Amino acid sequence: MKIEAGSLFSVLLLCLLLVAPSTTNAETGAAAWLLYTPRTPNEIMGYKSLPEVAVAFGESPILESARTELVRGARGMLGKTLRLTSAMPSQSAIVIGTVEQIRMIAPDFRTTSDLGNDGFWLTSHRIRGFKCIVIAGGGDRGVLYGVFAFLREIAVHSELWSLNYLQQPSAPVRWVNQWDNLDGSIERGYAGSSVFFENGRVRLDLTRASEYARLLASVGINGCVINNVNANRRVLDSDFLPELARIAQAFRPWGVRLGVSIDFSMPKAIGALDTFDPLDSRVAEWWRKKFDDIYQLIPDFGGVVIKADSEGQLGPAKYGRTPADAANVIARALKPHNGIVFYRAFVYDHHLDWTNLKNDRAKAAYDIFHPLDGKFDENVIVQIKNGPIDFQVREPVSPLFGGLEHTNVGIELQITQEYTGQQRHTCFLVPMWKQVLDFDLRVDGGFTPVNDVVAGASFHRPIGGYIGVANVGLDENWLGNHLAMANLYGFGRLAWNPTLTSKAILEEWTRLTFGSDPLVVATVSRIQLASWKAYESYTGPLGLQTLTNILGSHYGPAPESQERNGWGQWIRADDRGVGMDRTVATGTGFVGQYSTQVQKLYETIADTPDDLVLFFHHLPYAFRLHSGKTVIQTIYDLHYDGAGQARQFVSEWSTLRGHIDEARYRAVLAQLTYQSGHAIVWRDAVNDWFHRLSGIPDADGRVGNHPDRIEVEAMELEGYVPVDVTPWEDASGGRAVQCAAPVKSCAAKFPFTGKPGRYEIDVQYFDQRNGVSKYQVFVGPRLVDEWVANASLPATEPNGDSSMRRAIHNVVLRPGEQLRIEGFPDHEERAPLDYIELHPD
Ligand code: GCU
Repeated sequence: MKIEAGSLFSVLLLCLLLVAPSTTNAETGAAAWLLYTPRTPNEIMGYKSLPEVAVAFGESPILESARTELVRGARGMLGKTLRLTSAMPSQSAIVIGTVEQIRMIAPDFRTTSDLGNDGFWLTSHRIRGFKCIVIAGGGDRGVLYGVFAFLREIAVHSELWSLNYLQQPSAPVRWVNQWDNLDGSIERGYAGSSVFFENGRVRLDLTRASEYARLLASVGINGCVINNVNANRRVLDSDFLPELARIAQAFRPWGVRLGVSIDFSMPKAIGALDTFDPLDSRVAEWWRKKFDDIYQLIPDFGGVVIKADSEGQLGPAKYGRTPADAANVIARALKPHNGIVFYRAFVYDHHLDWTNLKNDRAKAAYDIFHPLDGKFDENVIVQIKNGPIDFQVREPVSPLFGGLEHTNVGIELQITQEYTGQQRHTCFLVPMWKQVLDFDLRVDGGFTPVNDVVAGASFHRPIGGYIGVANVGLDENWLGNHLAMANLYGFGRLAWNPTLTSKAILEEWTRLTFGSDPLVVATVSRIQLASWKAYESYTGPLGLQTLTNILGSHYGPAPESQERNGWGQWIRADDRGVGMDRTVATGTGFVGQYSTQVQKLYETIADTPDDLVLFFHHLPYAFRLHSGKTVIQTIYDLHYDGAGQARQFVSEWSTLRGHIDEARYRAVLAQLTYQSGHAIVWRDAVNDWFHRLSGIPDADGRVGNHPDRIEVEAMELEGYVPVDVTPWEDASGGRAVQCAAPVKSCAAKFPFTGKPGRYEIDVQYFDQRNGVSKYQVFVGPRLVDEWVANASLPATEPNGDSSMRRAIHNVVLRPGEQLRIEGFPDHEERAPLDYIELHPD
């Protein structure tokens, strides 16, 4: 066969592509941290002594997963196809099974402590004269977790023969909650539709659901609640139960138990009863029968989550009953089957009278649940959000963790970034969670860190643990942002072992996700570890909470929306000062819900750390914080710092070009670039709002003063008309322009009057979800950029949710040249524009 020079080259190229590490291929993110990227030939040499055979004992879907995973990982990373057998061969082997199974062939194999069902031991042991690597689990799940840990060791290049460690999870309950709706949408989900539901039914194809379960298992998560806490009542309809059973089947091989959120009024809503009073025996009987039916179909069903008497959900209050009455009636129906009730402590009045300075939403959970301590059945877990409000960028620890000594508790953490940038912003939350988990509640003067409380250790509770609100979707990379996956990974790793450091978790995740190139590990770590602080700085620092639009999307800036409504996220800002006085002495008394020692930390301004000071105290703007700076200047400065850091993330990420695959490199670059632009929107909105309210100028003269900025409403307009933006602080000068209906195109222009040179032109425009406008930018007759506004942002109007920045680099400008932006509206989106900035490039 004759090979042409050109095709020979193609063949060579193909060979090269086949042998090159997969970091040069297009990665979609679908494999997440289970990439099993081939190791370099050198590294593979280091694993030459790894046995060729894997001996696996026992039969169960979970053990089957453990085996296939081992083979898959070894093949992916080492190019080695392990031969699987169920009998000990006459050679060295990798032996996997439960301790009991392994002792059948190695009676001298003994663990030093009980592994429980989920624990495992990685070690080496001589069996029948052959040196073996042993992956031993307490139960089947332990075997699976041991295999994942073993593969992680290969991924981070550990020497395998010397491994010898035993691990047990910190807490028995390590669950995720998904807030999926039966129609396929996801409440607070930012990565496409549900992997479980579509059009009111369970999806026919549950491949993604089982891949999700695999990801969860790989970090030790053992339960998943699949539907919104604002539960659809149909989820327990008799004809829906077989559909639930299909999801349970998809989870089962990965040791993930299925759970559902229920609506407390179901006995009346979908049963034939005229009541859902938890103390009515007919109601108790209804629940008992319902769970008997469920367990017939799903014998390993995990349990239910209940949101009741909260944000409009019906609950026991209708009958004058307590959360304990409600939880227990269901717990008793679940008990014979080993099911758990997760009763959410997120119960509060969202019609609070804001004119009463003593009212405080933060007090609600403790006020309601503390008096019920000891009244919940043994299979009830009170599920408590980490803070007393609602997943804000920073909150103090919920005092309820210290207020339930005779009740099982679980901590609810939010992986889905509802108030922390909705995965359009990178915000690595593990450092926040660590602060919460490490916080010492000093109950009765003792050492009672939150992680011990939720593990059940502090108060000797039988169950407890971790619940992460995850909300993955059908987007290929699960969370819509490659970097956001570190939060899902980190949640699982922390639930397994809360003593791991943020840095260790992050480095491990980075190496598994992007490879071990030192530049990649260092850069990704720096960005991720700085990201929470940066986000906090450009949104709501000093304990102000996120300052987002709490009445709508929970995404862009809208500080005013916190105030003067029944939701109780008030910051009590006026022309003299800001902050909620929650002290015992003069405020709402919230501080009094903590132990005496913790009260000392927050009762006086002098002791309260700056980063929470406005959560606990109302301070004049001119008050000097521990830093020596005034409150107002700190707010201004932090917003500039945060936005500056977001910009820095882009340049740091840019150094990774060629060090990771191009597809993920570009996707993250685009995400960070967007974030950097939106951080400026945040910075200006919050600073302008405080500036107007306080009347105090920025000592550095930046706030409200943008010499490089040209407002579009001040340009010469053709077809564009100025509009007021709501809230005013979301647009520069409170105004934008948009094309008057019904024109097909509009333009804004102005003559360049600066020094000749190369410039970055930043165009601030609005990208709504109700149209796909087009934009073109001309310098004189030259078209320098054009784009379509097709981002998916949560807004149908020009505001802080839709505000976006387009940076056009390296444009040569000469004085007298005309800059012209043309907008082509589409549907309801009228090609809106805010301003232009010119910076020497
Ligand atoms: C937040 C969130 C809601 C959710 C609620 C909850 O308020 O915005 O969508 O239902 O928390 O946790 O119940």
